[in-house]
Amino acid sequence: MIPTIEIDGLVKHYGERTVLSGVSLDIDGGVFALLGPNGSGKTTLVSILTTLLRPDGGTARVLGHDILAEQREVRRRISATGQYATVDEQLTGRENLVMVARLLGLSPADARTRAAELLGEFELEEAADRRVSGYSGGMRRRIDLAASLVERPAVLFLDEPTTGLDPVSRQSLWAGVAALARAGSCVFLTTQMLDEAEALAERIAILHDGRIVADGTAASLTALVGGETAVLCDANGEEVRALDVDGTAAGLARALAGLGEQERGLRVELRRPTLDDAFAALTRRGTEAVAA
Ligand SMILES: Nc1ncnc2c1ncn2[C@@H]1O[C@H](COP(=O)(O)OP(=O)(O)O)[C@@H](O)[C@H]1O
Ligand SMILES: [Mg+2]
Repeated sequence: MIPTIEIDGLVKHYGERTVLSGVSLDIDGGVFALLGPNGSGKTTLVSILTTLLRPDGGTARVLGHDILAEQREVRRRISATGQYATVDEQLTGRENLVMVARLLGLSPADARTRAAELLGEFELEEAADRRVSGYSGGMRRRIDLAASLVERPAVLFLDEPTTGLDPVSRQSLWAGVAALARAGSCVFLTTQMLDEAEALAERIAILHDGRIVADGTAASLTALVGGETAVLCDANGEEVRALDVDGTAAGLARALAGLGEQERGLRVELRRPTLDDAFAALTRRGTEAVAA
């Protein structure tokens, strides 16, 4: 079976600056998260994959179609946020979705059904019959996304979909993305937020310095950082200080032997590294490629 998205050695320069220096990835479906700090090249990569920007080197295929030689085939199969800003502020959320569905050729009954499904998936039922002009920023983001999904795309690109959203809107948007993935779409998502990648994606790749520095599940990325860390906690469970345990049992024994007089009564808690730790460790490692 061909991968949903095949990326092979993509290179992109802006003037003197190399933003992508050979990015390769195969994505099989489900939700994939590309994680990277601001300026790491996430939008550049998404723009290339959605045929909006030409790479300077390398190739990519979406559902087997080459992004350069078969642009139209690629575009027919994908949806990208912001690409179809069709929402009319004077109409209600429901009216907008029904209108888009009718424009796509659905019957009036099917259009209403599809609109209701999307309003449910994006938790917009309560606001459905109010004008979009009165929507909050988070609701507006969700109705825009829902409108671009009336026709279920095989592949959806979401470039930092929750940046700037309040926590409640963020959760609603996550629910919509999860529903879409359950319905069979492949979602390629970019984010700077580790918890978002962890919550949504089966697979996460970290982009740093123009390269993929790590690629795997959230669990495999934390495993890369080493084993458990240990912290000393007081009676309230508050962290007093971290212990240098070297990720090993011997290291832990050494650290415990070296505790000060007042520290003897404190509790030792073992903690698994978080994805934040993984991210910090991996980006410190720079261009050294790591495969999980
Ligand atoms: N059109 C452009 N011309 C010159 N530099 C650009 C252009 N677009 C992006 N860049 C630079 O390329 C780098 C990567 O940008 P971008 O892909 O937008 O990163 P991200 O989406 O991860 O924040 C940044 O340093 C940005 O300033
Ligand atoms: Mg960006």
